[in-house]
Amino acid sequence: MFKQIILGVGNNPLVSKTIGQYGMQLGASRFVAGATLDEAIRVVKDLNRRHMAATLDHLGESVTRLDEAAAARDSYLQMLDMIAETHVQSHVSVKLTMMGMAISEEAAANNLEAIVARAHEVQSFVRIDMEDSHFTTQTLRLFQDVWARYPDNVGVVLQAYLYRTMEDLKALSDPPKNFRIVKGAYQEPPSLAYPSKPDVDDNYVALVEASLHNGNYTAVATHDEQMIGKVLRYVASHNIPNDQFEFQMLYGVKLSVLEDLAQRGYTTRVYVPWGRDWYAYYLRRIAERPANLLFFARSLTKR
Ligand code: FDA
Repeated sequence: MFKQIILGVGNNPLVSKTIGQYGMQLGASRFVAGATLDEAIRVVKDLNRRHMAATLDHLGESVTRLDEAAAARDSYLQMLDMIAETHVQSHVSVKLTMMGMAISEEAAANNLEAIVARAHEVQSFVRIDMEDSHFTTQTLRLFQDVWARYPDNVGVVLQAYLYRTMEDLKALSDPPKNFRIVKGAYQEPPSLAYPSKPDVDDNYVALVEASLHNGNYTAVATHDEQMIGKVLRYVASHNIPNDQFEFQMLYGVKLSVLEDLAQRGYTTRVYVPWGRDWYAYYLRRIAERPANLLFFARSLTKR
């Protein structure tokens, strides 16, 4: 219910204009590494020093013009070049609506192809984020298409709240691929997604186990320590090697838990968003946790 209200109010143009005007001062800087790529790279260097890798996300989604999508593609090419030049341990995460998918699937496919081809050249990796359920089928189609040419350089996200995901996982796992498994951050109807958190949690564990069992490289992306504990018990009891999975968390959320996993020798990665277009991303972070709204309110009163 809280999630519905926050994501619903956030779509109101007046609210988005008001919040957008005050930039990162309204608490977004807790979750966003900076306005520029240089700032984000500095954050990644610090994470690397603490034995955590990163995945960089240039914030932005739902572009409405193809020239904006082309500019977004170019920013990802620049990001991959910068990662290679600075030798930071990071790959990139991309949203296909930022690449123009809501306007033209062909344009988004071409932009994605260019980014994954560059990742191949510089021996990096592109994670395709999963957006709301209008885009699930298209996203998986574009992923499979580019995966056929660059199997080592691209992976996709699967969301545990969707009923369809176990079937998607099974269909995609032959041959094995590279998945990030998340609970899901968008507002979805009960006809498509489990409305109750315990059901999402059960499906989350089932998906991670099935993904590992089928030989996929599996990024376990959650801040939920219960989920992490269950995955650790599963990998230990099924002799899953450490190089078949990693743990991921969002910048600004529970990084001490991730750092602890890194110190215990597990591969870890922080999702590091940067850029000026932080509004939609920030709202999803507030919607995930009611306490973040208090944090946001406090930042308003401090102004
Ligand atoms: P859950 O919501 O149960 O939270 C467990 C605990 O973590 C909470 O009790 C709280 O302590 C802490 N926590 C969680 N969220 C917090 C927040 N925002 N602020 C402060 N504390 C918080 N989703 C999606 O739909 N598509 C995608 O591509 C991605 N990509 C992605 C990458 C990575 C690396 C992560 C970690 C997550 C995503 N997500 C995502 C978001 C995901 O779907 C989900 O909304 C969040 O991870 C919150 O769910 P948890 O699994 O953390 O569990």
